[in-house]
Amino acid sequence: MQAIVMTAVGGPEVLVPRDVAAPRPGPGEIVVRAEAIPVLYPETRLRAGEFSIGVELPAVFGFQAAGVVVEAGVETAAALVGQRVVVNTMGLGAYAELVCAPAASATLIPDGLTTADAAAVLMSGSVALPLLARARLTGTETVLIEAAATGVGSALTQLAKGSGAARVIATAGGPEKAALARKLGADEVIDHRDPHWPDRLREQLGGATVDVVFDSIGGTTAHGLLDAMTPLHGRMLGYGFLSGAPAQVSATDLIPRGLTLIGCAGPAWLGTVAAARGEALGRAAAGHLAPLIDSVLPLDQASRAHRLVDDRVPVGRVILRPEL
Ligand SMILES: NC(=O)c1ccc[n+]([C@@H]2O[C@H](COP(=O)([O-])OP(=O)(O)OC[C@H]3O[C@@H](n4cnc5c(N)ncnc54)[C@H](OP(=O)(O)O)[C@@H]3O)[C@@H](O)[C@H]2O)c1
Repeated sequence: MQAIVMTAVGGPEVLVPRDVAAPRPGPGEIVVRAEAIPVLYPETRLRAGEFSIGVELPAVFGFQAAGVVVEAGVETAAALVGQRVVVNTMGLGAYAELVCAPAASATLIPDGLTTADAAAVLMSGSVALPLLARARLTGTETVLIEAAATGVGSALTQLAKGSGAARVIATAGGPEKAALARKLGADEVIDHRDPHWPDRLREQLGGATVDVVFDSIGGTTAHGLLDAMTPLHGRMLGYGFLSGAPAQVSATDLIPRGLTLIGCAGPAWLGTVAAARGEALGRAAAGHLAPLIDSVLPLDQASRAHRLVDDRVPVGRVILRPEL
């Protein structure tokens, strides 16, 4: 079968199409014939070496795939065979025609949702839902959603008002993404390509403050937001490091302002994300969460897809499709 092999740590060119042996399911595993493979931002960071892959290279790349279950291992629910699902691998093996994954990771795709849409929305929706739950919005609060036109930010923007936000301020890069963030539900949008955008936020707020920040950018920008947050009440939910580092704020910054930094990463957090996958697809099928697809490319163009994500070009998810 065709698969995309990560040959080394590095730029998009390390992802190379190769013929490899088809996987066979072990106990507790299933094999899916992939129809839609989402290109995920964290995968690009793994490829670039920002975190360890934990196995020897070369290896078949990729975290998630959507398609039809074609085989189940012994002691695995055979009822899954023939079903449309999205699966999560153990960190490798999803950029392939046939994908082996734990049966327990399979999320059934509801009728009415295409396989490509399910692939596009699964990660964004399943991260956004527990973020909103942890924020415990009261119905009258102002939220700031960073990188709101794509990925997790786009799902947060769509769901925020229904989860108790009264005013949604978003950030996005450039006019096209700003327009999309507005369409998704943001009341106001600030361009985060301006390095002084936290100052623009404070100007926009006048004397008002932000109650909840969904921080995906991290780095030094996060510190600039603290004086725009509601004293004693403001919470910053840190879930991403788009700038290359987590929010650079310390107890010395937080305590005198009475602010809370809530960490939303790590193994326990990922358990809550996994538990939200079914609800994410259910909301998309019901039309309450729009899957955003930028483009569908043949599987053998995985390196081109990664280059697009590295260059911040896509407006929505890039999907890889075997056999195009
Ligand atoms: N904790 C978790 O459970 C979890 C789960 C998934 C992802 N994450 C993390 O959350 C963050 C967002 O992930 P995602 O999948 O939602 O990403 P994404 O939106 O699909 O893609 C990244 C977008 O962020 C924007 N951006 C803003 N500042 C950036 C910067 N300094 N460098 C690169 N891009 C920047 C870019 O859009 P513009 O053109 O608008 O600037 C880019 O298109 C990532 O750090 C990811 O690793 C965390």
